[in-house]
Amino acid sequence: MTDTMPSDLLEHARDAKGFMPEDEGALLHRIALERLPHGPALEVGTYCGKSGIYLGAAAQQVTAATGTTAVVFTVDHHRGSEENQAGWEHHDASVVDPELGLMDTLGEFRRNIARAGLEDHVIAIVGQSTSVAAHWRTPLSLLFIDGGHGEQPARDDFAGWAHWVDAGGYLAIHDVFPDPADGGRPPYELIYLPALASGAFTEVEAVGSLRVLQRTSGAAGDPLA
Ligand SMILES: C[S@@+](CC[C@H](N)C(=O)[O-])C[C@H]1O[C@@H](n2cnc3c(N)ncnc32)[C@H](O)[C@@H]1O
Repeated sequence: MTDTMPSDLLEHARDAKGFMPEDEGALLHRIALERLPHGPALEVGTYCGKSGIYLGAAAQQVTAATGTTAVVFTVDHHRGSEENQAGWEHHDASVVDPELGLMDTLGEFRRNIARAGLEDHVIAIVGQSTSVAAHWRTPLSLLFIDGGHGEQPARDDFAGWAHWVDAGGYLAIHDVFPDPADGGRPPYELIYLPALASGAFTEVEAVGSLRVLQRTSGAAGDPLA
């Protein structure tokens, strides 16, 4: 099994709206290939499915290699983060529901995943991250956190999801900026640093603002310090 993105799926990832640079997407794809044979992955922050295509491509390849369907769950309320709302830097008026006047990225996500042929592998969960996390009980081979980048959502995503990473599994965090000049603080201060401080995770890889930590102590469901 090659560890590069199949070229047709790379084209789909390139075409999708979103916030995943290609070099970081390649790392996401590679770690998903490594981990998906051990269990499902989960992404917090679907948006239009750009990162989902990198993860889903790995799930499709793992399925072909093992004969067992590999899956990636992806959680989003599809109403956008603070920075996606009208008047903010990352607003895209083409993903606003004209009747409700609210962001709705679910349709665009579904089209992107269908066009890429990944509907069997990328499974949408539509809802608040905190509500889904409160009922989640499944060990994760890989958790990718790329949801709300404000203080409360970052705190909630760490508290709700990080302990579900299984022993040896990966916690990948997007938009980690140790230097405040490069970007917002919450993913760095409220997810990345607490994960390391818990003693349960060790950093193993980094590309751009994507950091990959491995669970090196405890197992899924054990509380983090
Ligand atoms: C940075 S975007 C995700 C980008 C995506 N991973 C990509 O590759 O393009 C963050 C997403 O998180 C979602 N989000 C923010 N806060 C959330 C929450 N509390 N619950 C569920 N989804 C949330 C937003 O709706 C938005 O689509």
